[in-house]
Amino acid sequence: MEVVILPDAATIGGTAADAVAALLDRKPDAVLGLATGSSPLAIYDELAARCAAGRISFRQARAFTLDEYVGLPADHPERYRNVIDTVFVSRVDFGPDTVLGPDGLATDIPAACAAYEDAIRAAGGVDLQIVGIGTDGHIAFNEPGSSLASRTRIKTLTRQTRLDNARFFGDDLDAVPTHCLTQGLATIMAARHVILVALGRSKAEAVHHLVEGAVSAMWPATILQHHPHVTVLLDDAAAQRLQLIDYYRETYRSKPDWQGF
Ligand code: F6R
Repeated sequence: MEVVILPDAATIGGTAADAVAALLDRKPDAVLGLATGSSPLAIYDELAARCAAGRISFRQARAFTLDEYVGLPADHPERYRNVIDTVFVSRVDFGPDTVLGPDGLATDIPAACAAYEDAIRAAGGVDLQIVGIGTDGHIAFNEPGSSLASRTRIKTLTRQTRLDNARFFGDDLDAVPTHCLTQGLATIMAARHVILVALGRSKAEAVHHLVEGAVSAMWPATILQHHPHVTVLLDDAAAQRLQLIDYYRETYRSKPDWQGF
């Protein structure tokens, strides 16, 4: 796990965008994994700016989103499929039908989840997965207690996650869906490179567990300690509970120029 502490969201966005650009340079038809939520927004802004400037293209790429609320109407602005279209996909040059998400309106949910796993596999797996982290340590919507071997499935959202996300629903907790479809922890672990972004003080405890805690279903993100290629991009506030913060800073400072992510 490489821990990189950067001054602000914009710098984190640029650093993650560099990793996406390097991947697309060497593999233009790469498969990206996209997270919604606020953490990756600066990455998407930076990628959209580079695409508008003709510096990067997603024309041959494909992408899969991590999760989706169950039951939100197709045109609901907070449906993750619509959110990712607004904040990223519609701003770059993906081809038609190349970005997929779990179907939160499926009538046969187990079949829809299995079909989603099949689609990721058929695409050759995810090359670079962008993830955020919940204050309770979830990645995608793998809430505490999730099986470390889980695959795409329906999950009940914790009250904490619904409270955290109420800001997207006019601060109305009752408007936040109770269930979601989410890639499992094993699905995420199959990605070849995972970039996790955490911003702000509210993420500091989860980040401490992620990087320095024991691997446990109670802090689902800790499974990433078993992944061979994870980059954790943090602002100072999200890094403040790390015991080895000085070591991570020094490691990044002394990183040779030739060594990317
Ligand atoms: C979103 C997702 C969630 C978020 C997490 C952090 O697709 O999978 O795990 O990444 O809840 O959300 P933000 O970034 O809004 O703090």
